Amino acid sequence: MRLKISQLFFFFFCIVLLLHPSLAQTTNEHEQEDVKRSQFPDGFLFGTSTSSYQIEGAYLEDGKGLNNWDVFTHIPGNIKNNDNGDIADNHYHQFLEDIELMQSLGVNAYRFSISWSRILPRGRFGEVNTRGISFYNNLIDNLLLKGIEPFVTIHHHDIPQELEDRYGSWLSPLMQEDFLYFAEICFKSFGHKIKYWTTLNEPNLFADMAYMRGCQSRVVPSVSLQIQLYEPYRDNEDDQKAVSRALAFQLAWVFDPIVYGDYPPEMRHYLGSVLPRFSQEEISILKGSIDFIAINHYSTLYAKDCIHSACIPGWDRPIRGFVYTTEERDGVLIGDRTANPRFFVVPRGMEKIINYVKERYNNMPMIVTENGFAPPPQQKQQDQQDLLQDAERINFHKSYLAALARAIRNGADVRGYFVWSMIDNFEWIDGYSVRYGLYYVDRQTLKRMPKLSAKWYKNILTVDATSNSNSSNIFKRKNTMSTVSQASKAEI
Ligand code: BGC
Repeated sequence: MRLKISQLFFFFFCIVLLLHPSLAQTTNEHEQEDVKRSQFPDGFLFGTSTSSYQIEGAYLEDGKGLNNWDVFTHIPGNIKNNDNGDIADNHYHQFLEDIELMQSLGVNAYRFSISWSRILPRGRFGEVNTRGISFYNNLIDNLLLKGIEPFVTIHHHDIPQELEDRYGSWLSPLMQEDFLYFAEICFKSFGHKIKYWTTLNEPNLFADMAYMRGCQSRVVPSVSLQIQLYEPYRDNEDDQKAVSRALAFQLAWVFDPIVYGDYPPEMRHYLGSVLPRFSQEEISILKGSIDFIAINHYSTLYAKDCIHSACIPGWDRPIRGFVYTTEERDGVLIGDRTANPRFFVVPRGMEKIINYVKERYNNMPMIVTENGFAPPPQQKQQDQQDLLQDAERINFHKSYLAALARAIRNGADVRGYFVWSMIDNFEWIDGYSVRYGLYYVDRQTLKRMPKLSAKWYKNILTVDATSNSNSSNIFKRKNTMSTVSQASKAEI
């Protein structure tokens, strides 16, 4: 009889554990669900991501012109340790070796960007640099030879300095002509080999970071402060609305016009006549102009209303939807810290952001073009061995991929996932002090070494890779295009 009572108690205890909502969430967040390639659809793109300025180096070789980051990084005090991208990972000279690394990982796609000033040293005011074109043709051909699909971002923060000097680049409508000119050269030179294009990386982010705040002090983007999406800070209607506003002002701001032909109704409601109107011609160009939604997702913050509630001055800015954002509630952090003071490890954010995009855009195809982790600075100096043992990064990717797999199981049409980043690289104003790579790069020798996470990713990609690794034709149209939104580095 005594045994039966304890069995009964144990049974009830287990039921309570399973049903209790807060515990259910804890289980979701921290359990290390096993991730398998076979949980993702056939042809799913599994890749790694980089950008030109962050890895290429060779900043004045073979006819390349100066860009905004070449100039900005050379001003003492702008970048941690006064680092710069002059050499970066020397990818310009070591790209064949980097392709070998990718092949050994088992990825079927690689996302990289094209250095604008390598192709057009003076924007449209000078000649096309044929040696720049040859570099990217070589890169693309060698990727294709190894069965790796090139996934191209046309513009990832680096701009020919000439365009900055002439008219402040994106501050002027003239920039549209320059971008068009550059994009057309890219399409003509590489278009027949490229199935996937994205136009601008994180335009919402650089509009805010570089031009709202940066232009006042005449600096160019600082991407270490991120805009994120959110969970309500307080359990009330105002903060629920703050969450929807934050999403609309940061994510839908970019995607609604190119999917539906106008700014989000939420922005129209709050900004009224301040928000420009698109002409009929612009609407017809914009509407339905993308084939997939590309999102960079890393983190989550809490959102608090600044319209009806008191907020710290400065947070009620329209570009952020009049929302205050914070990582802490009642003294508890939303997730573990990372190197970026605004990025926290909140895997459920991946599932939520995918579901948000799925609902808002009728389950258009989606691709996660960036997701990654860099460890927070440690008290003690870390040596190479410490940095190679990156168990935290494995846990990060495991739990975010598991959340992505859940969203896919529930019907989200997600077609790809790219780890940021393939190798440690130049992390903007943090220089080389912050490392996102699956491969460690020795700053003295530039030697690449696989971290534990590279071995883990390889295992996922190669162990049960029989049926679904072929990446051809994941979309109907031959060349597909999107704009990558940093707004979706976020959470609802
Ligand atoms: C950017 C990358 C950057 C990464 C980590 C992304 O938003 O596209 O260039 O390195 O975040 O901060």
